[in-house]
Amino acid sequence: MLLAQITDTHIVAPGTLFRCPVQGTAPDAERIWREIDTARYLARAVSSLNALVPRPDVTVVTGDLVDHGEPAEYEHLRRLLAPLQMPVFVIPGNHDARGNLREAFGDGGYLPAEGYLQYTIEDYPLRLVALDTLIPGKHDGMLCAERLGWLDAALAAQPARPTLILMHHPPFATGITYMDNFGLANAAGLAEIVGRHPQVERILCGHLHRAIDRRFAGTVAGTAPSTAHQIRLNLVPDPRISFVFEPPGYQLHLWQPETGLVTHTAVFDDWSSP
Ligand SMILES: [Fe+2]
Repeated sequence: MLLAQITDTHIVAPGTLFRCPVQGTAPDAERIWREIDTARYLARAVSSLNALVPRPDVTVVTGDLVDHGEPAEYEHLRRLLAPLQMPVFVIPGNHDARGNLREAFGDGGYLPAEGYLQYTIEDYPLRLVALDTLIPGKHDGMLCAERLGWLDAALAAQPARPTLILMHHPPFATGITYMDNFGLANAAGLAEIVGRHPQVERILCGHLHRAIDRRFAGTVAGTAPSTAHQIRLNLVPDPRISFVFEPPGYQLHLWQPETGLVTHTAVFDDWSSP
């Protein structure tokens, strides 16, 4: 089984551009903005995934699907994802709005009709368990007792099936100060549950706009690059956000029972030498 993960697509309304801060890291640097066409980036990611051999069996989108949670943005996103030649499953990030997301993707049949946008997908060799870390109006995330209780029951229901957990906010600090200031509350509660369910092969996250991995509660948790703008790799304590335009990418998670789950971070487009 081959699962593609795209994330942080940040789609805006048709005819508008995403505004992205690209300031340097000098203390006195002024904020500089650059406008980018996140839709064009996503269209290229979609073309790239469709052209892969072998083609992924499924694609997941791990949050920050759109930038402002608006219906017009979700409609735009749906049109951009429509050409994908495999099933697609989405989860919310901090830029999403639960109600509008549910409205836009409800006809897929996998999102619950009310409450948190948490669900399981049982149709593949790897079971998918999707979590909702959204706190409306905030950039940090959380898993409250209700959401964690749902996860514990979902994992207990199928203890023998290799499982991927999908969630937007990674359950660990990365050393990138700005993003760590908007991290996940109650990662310890998640660790307590995941540690009791060894079938969890991986926790797949977004939010960081780059690939970062960490051991977590007996499994591996990781983030994937954005299909558009990447967060600057800045390990100096600095509370400001800054994006860079490294090659955009996605991750491919290859599951073969005899070799386990292997994760590849790939870039798309032609990045050959000038
Ligand atoms: Fe994002």
